[in-house]
Amino acid sequence: MATGQAGCAAVVRPATDPRFGDYQANGVMALAKQIKTNPRKLAESVVAQLDLSDLCEPPEVAGPGFVNLRLKPEYAATELLRIANEDGERLGIRPAASPQTIVADFSSPNIAKEMHVGHLRSTIIGDCLCRLLEFEGHRVVRQNHIGDWGTQFGRVILGLWHMCMAEKHGQPLYYRTELDGLRRLAKSGEDLKRLCQHILDRHEKDWRKDSTDLDNLGDGERCFHPFLKKLRERDPHEMWPEFLAVYQYVSLLEECASGMGLKIPTRDAGDKDYAYLSRHVTTMLQRLDRQEYDAWEYVTELTLDECFDIYTKLGVTFNRETDIRGESFYNDRLPAVVSDLRDSGLAVESNGAVCVFPPGFKTKEGEPLPFIIQKSDGAFLYATTDLAALRYRVNELKAGRIVYVTDARQIQHFQMLFKVAEMAGWDTRDGKKVELVHVTFGSVLGEDGRPLKTRSGENVKLKELLEEAVLRARQVVNDKSPELSDSQKDKIAEAVGIGAVKYADYSNSRTSDYVFSFDKMLAMDGNTAPYMQYAYARVRSIERKARTKGVDVRSELASIKTLNLSEPSELDLAKHLVRYAEAVESAIADYRPNYLTAYLYELAQQFSAFYTNCPVLDAPPATRPTRLLLCDQTARTIKHGLSTLLGIAVVEQM
Ligand code: ARG
Repeated sequence: MATGQAGCAAVVRPATDPRFGDYQANGVMALAKQIKTNPRKLAESVVAQLDLSDLCEPPEVAGPGFVNLRLKPEYAATELLRIANEDGERLGIRPAASPQTIVADFSSPNIAKEMHVGHLRSTIIGDCLCRLLEFEGHRVVRQNHIGDWGTQFGRVILGLWHMCMAEKHGQPLYYRTELDGLRRLAKSGEDLKRLCQHILDRHEKDWRKDSTDLDNLGDGERCFHPFLKKLRERDPHEMWPEFLAVYQYVSLLEECASGMGLKIPTRDAGDKDYAYLSRHVTTMLQRLDRQEYDAWEYVTELTLDECFDIYTKLGVTFNRETDIRGESFYNDRLPAVVSDLRDSGLAVESNGAVCVFPPGFKTKEGEPLPFIIQKSDGAFLYATTDLAALRYRVNELKAGRIVYVTDARQIQHFQMLFKVAEMAGWDTRDGKKVELVHVTFGSVLGEDGRPLKTRSGENVKLKELLEEAVLRARQVVNDKSPELSDSQKDKIAEAVGIGAVKYADYSNSRTSDYVFSFDKMLAMDGNTAPYMQYAYARVRSIERKARTKGVDVRSELASIKTLNLSEPSELDLAKHLVRYAEAVESAIADYRPNYLTAYLYELAQQFSAFYTNCPVLDAPPATRPTRLLLCDQTARTIKHGLSTLLGIAVVEQM
């Protein structure tokens, strides 16, 4: 307007420093540069023509051409009252103008393995995004793309087969002893080959014997299959560590043996031709015999039992019937992915493999980078499955948007996936583009600044990490509130411990790495879960105290016609409360939970300043209802942010 130019962005942002107001418009400088004029002069002419009198004090020009905006107290007062009296729990947040069906792909651990901290991030960030998007009014379809196919599949079967053989030989734990041996020798070398040879010789004998049994009885019905059936009668919590051990045994054996050029005989290998274990895996993939299928199914269920224990602890909701859609689900759809891409000419053969070369992707040497969808031995890959999953989500789940939550190391995979989908036209339905989003995150580091590992260098198990958090939180609660009962303390410790782990993750910018520190995340001050939970409990204690003083909070709140914001700290708190929607909307727009935690932290601090300056229950009758409303709205907002949107439990007392 001031320039006669159309379509200029005002670029209004929350002010970085409250001394300059509540918002600042930064658009003038860029515009001034564009039309080659003095930015400060331009800002002054913008301000002269700007009428925001219903919302703001007269705008001010600052620095080289910023326009500072300060909300009017009357606006803050009426807006806060409006939000407080609104029906339901929207807290000023508007529903999305055009709700979509959004598929969220997150958590997605691999079967036969323990979940580690990398999965923690995908799981809780994904869960938070689902909560945010659902609250905004979208239909969210959760998809846990578990890695239940591929190399691990062969190891799962072979592992269970070893378990079966161990029982048959009456040495139920041979694999544990041998696993220890392999681990020890893998470090020192020397006798490793002898041990491997010993295992493989026995393996071969068993395998041949078993094969003969199979030939006589068909399909291994005599030995392996009955064994698998019996497994289901055992307690899954006892079987899980047992299974992990045998799985590691098979994996390490494979690693050692192939490193030494040793070969593992397989069922399909002819007399002369021994194959590597990985070949065995490939054959397994091609033929789904009953007992193999049963073995796989058993281990999938076993893994999911473990995962769901963790999801429940974390307050993450997955529906086991509908939301678990692992890689194996797409098996039948993989050949069509390859043939369709070949038919359209997008996929070509290169060194025996089938690949797409999306433009713009290069290897280090500057060669075109292939997106490989079929290996020369016919096997399909991670990429093939993701293409099949994408088609399924677009065409059958009717996604308008697909959001993938994985660590940043997969950036290139997803860039290529999205590009290939676009080239094939698979990212459109009924002529409309489906939005494809990759939400990435950094690593969790130990206090030494390196990826978080145990002392012995293994991945930190998520389950143990959470147990430790709760244990440490129990200590904090003990120190802080010795007067509470044991069962109260347990409940609070659970909320604080789990909350602390989640909050620490959310409050860091998700794209950065962060250092995992129990001491920091459990600190009672700073931007932590216990600080926020304590802030909430403190506000709630005012209401409890009111009751003992005979103050009827609800009826005072109901009687309010206008708010009386006379103290600066009341006004600051009120202004911050009306800006909740802004924080939530920006968290949704950028898929960044830390915008929400930063808002909540500031809210707790504003509240603290207000509560220090302004007596509430002892306030004069003219101001008490306003102050009670500020308390009540603070409690509602913290609770909504923490528990509804971040999935972190609040406690009434701490
Ligand atoms: N299973 C993979 C992992 O543990 C993550 C899968 C992510 N989702 C996907 N559609 N590729 O790294």
